[in-house]
Amino acid sequence: MFDKKVYIKRREILKKKVKSGLILLLGNDESPMNYMDNTYHFRQDSTFLYYFGIDFPGLAAVIDIDDNADVIFGNDFTIDDIVWMGPQPTIAQRAVKSGIKLAGTPAELKDVLLRAASQGRKVHFIPQYRYDNMMKLEALLDIRAGEVNNYVSPQLIKAIVEQRTIKSSEEIKEIEKAIDISYDMQTSAMQITIPGIKEQEIAGYVQGIAAAKGNGLSFPIIFSKHGETLHNHGHANILRNGDLVVNDSGTETDLHYASDITRTFPVSGKFSDRQKEIYQIVLDANMEAIKAVKPGIFFKDVHLRAAAVIATGLKELGFLKGDVKEIVKEGAHALFFPHGLGHLLGLDVHDMENFGEFYTGYHEKIKRSTQFGLKSLRYAKEMKPGTVLTIEPGIYFIPELIHKWEAEGKFTQFINYEKAKKYIGFGGIRIEDDILVTKTGSRVLGKPIPKTIEEVEQFCSNKN
Ligand code: GLY
Ligand code: MN
Ligand code: MN
Repeated sequence: MFDKKVYIKRREILKKKVKSGLILLLGNDESPMNYMDNTYHFRQDSTFLYYFGIDFPGLAAVIDIDDNADVIFGNDFTIDDIVWMGPQPTIAQRAVKSGIKLAGTPAELKDVLLRAASQGRKVHFIPQYRYDNMMKLEALLDIRAGEVNNYVSPQLIKAIVEQRTIKSSEEIKEIEKAIDISYDMQTSAMQITIPGIKEQEIAGYVQGIAAAKGNGLSFPIIFSKHGETLHNHGHANILRNGDLVVNDSGTETDLHYASDITRTFPVSGKFSDRQKEIYQIVLDANMEAIKAVKPGIFFKDVHLRAAAVIATGLKELGFLKGDVKEIVKEGAHALFFPHGLGHLLGLDVHDMENFGEFYTGYHEKIKRSTQFGLKSLRYAKEMKPGTVLTIEPGIYFIPELIHKWEAEGKFTQFINYEKAKKYIGFGGIRIEDDILVTKTGSRVLGKPIPKTIEEVEQFCSNKN
């Protein structure tokens, strides 16, 4: 945990933003894998971590704005639990670490909420993504479990998103710790990959680094020579000379701040000429986008800038034809770059996506596009100093998409399908960094991870 002053201050800011009523925040419970006592690795809810820092299952909290009182609710362990688990602090002792003097039981929480309802006071809560917490809210607030997300507080969501979007210096340090572990996850993969090895062996090794140096992965690792499948979680292929492999992975620190880094490297250790050509376009898009980041600029415009770099490069190689501005406006480049440039990063790898992207990435004045490619942009609004984002352009040769668009005669004025079809089997290339928006521009966070063709080849050739 951070020092309790951090959590006290965060709650004070939240109270000022929300102004009145009660804020009810649920922590997460253990999540059973195949029977009740055999659980997945416990992951606390990120909003609960942000305001309380207590990394333990079975808790709920009320921030009473009108009475200026914060209370943690949960059941203390009995001797029957302690014989299995060892000595455990009480809920009250855990609460003190968060600067909270009041603790209660779940039955007392129910009483607090009943009293608030009888007084006609507003109870603010956020969208739930775990079904057990929806059921808890049903029991606490008398709203059907399947309906609770229809009664969330936009005022609370907006306040939390505004606050969590701007990272403090201690949060940035945590994110950089995670990225420095990613440095090892990326460079080790480059060093130990040899032709004939199964993806699973490298993916498992990389996951081991995340567990040994951090708190495990921040999302299921993407490690595949089929990098053209954007979220490829299978690791069954044998890596061969000539293959490119995408390693999109991240870890969490002990305080649960995430990294999310992608590198693409040649299994043989050397890029072929045609791999180099495509790689350099993606690298240029990555670096141009990083340069374009500035406070006040819409991230959507940075995405479009990266799309223009990709379209220009692919036009020079003969994959695209016509006016680059038109190509990007119409979305023809999305055949090769079908996803968004990036997303917020913090306690969640896609930070605060549990609130819905309308709140985290868009607002009333900037609506999500419905155009293929652009519709997958998770964050579009103006950037502010302190915002941490990923920059992750890519080029992919997706056989099904190439065949479908060609059969439909889509964008034939812009796309050279004959050329695109020659690259089926090439795979995909993505290069992802994590950046901080500063007062004047941006800073790539963490220790620099090999990224240029020369740097990547150098690490791949260092097989110690
Ligand atoms: N892990 C998927 C992404 O980069 O957002
Ligand atoms: Mn990623
Ligand atoms: Mn990402």
